[in-house]
Amino acid sequence: MKDLIDIIKTRRTIRNYKTEKVDRDILEKLMEAAKHAPTGMNNQNRRFTIIENAEIIKKFEREIESALNREDYSLFNTPVFLIISVPRDSENGLADTAVAIQNLYLAATYYGLGCCWINQLKHCYDTREIRELLTLVNIPEDEVVYGAMTIGYPKDLPESKARIEKHYYID
Ligand SMILES: Cc1cc2nc3c(=O)[nH]c(=O)nc-3n(C[C@H](O)[C@H](O)[C@H](O)COP(=O)(O)O)c2cc1C
Repeated sequence: MKDLIDIIKTRRTIRNYKTEKVDRDILEKLMEAAKHAPTGMNNQNRRFTIIENAEIIKKFEREIESALNREDYSLFNTPVFLIISVPRDSENGLADTAVAIQNLYLAATYYGLGCCWINQLKHCYDTREIRELLTLVNIPEDEVVYGAMTIGYPKDLPESKARIEKHYYID
C-alpha cells in the first residue's frame, strides 16, 4: 500500500505520454476515484466522457487551437482525453469539477499514470465548432465544461516544483 502523502507529493502534471493505451479496468478505477470526490449538496451531477478515439481527440485539439487563436496548441498526443461536464445552471460546477480532477490526479499517480488538467474548454465550450464536437461525444447542450484532462503513461517525470505557499497557526 503506497503512502497517501507520498502519492500527493509525487503527483506531477504530465505533458508527454507514451502511445500505450490505458486498460479499461484502470480507467474504471480512475472513474471510481473521480466519482468519490464530493459534490456541493451531494448533487452528483457530473458527466465523465472518456475519449480514446485519436481522431476525435485531434479534432478537439485543432478546434480549441482555432477557437482561442492559439498556435501549436497540443493535447500532448494523449491516449485518453477526459471531459467533465456539468449542468449549465450548476451552482458549484467549477468546484465539483476541480475536486474530481484532484482525485483523478492522485489515483492516476497511484496506478503509474500521469495527467494534465486542461483548462481551455471552459473558454470555448459554446462556440459552434466545439459544441459540435461535444455533441459528437454525446454531451448535451445544457451541459458546460469547466475542466478536462489528458491521461496516459508518462514518457518522463518532470521535477517537482518547489512549494512556496505559506501557512499560519493562530493560537
Ligand atoms: C486550475 C488549473 C488549471 C490548469 N490548466 C492547465 C492547462 O490548461 N494546461 C496545462 O498544461 N496545465 C494546466 N494546469 C497544470 C499546472 O500548470 C500545474 O499543476 C502546475 O504547473 C504545477 O505543476 P504540478 O501539477 O506538476 O505540481 C492547470 C492546473 C490547475 C490547478
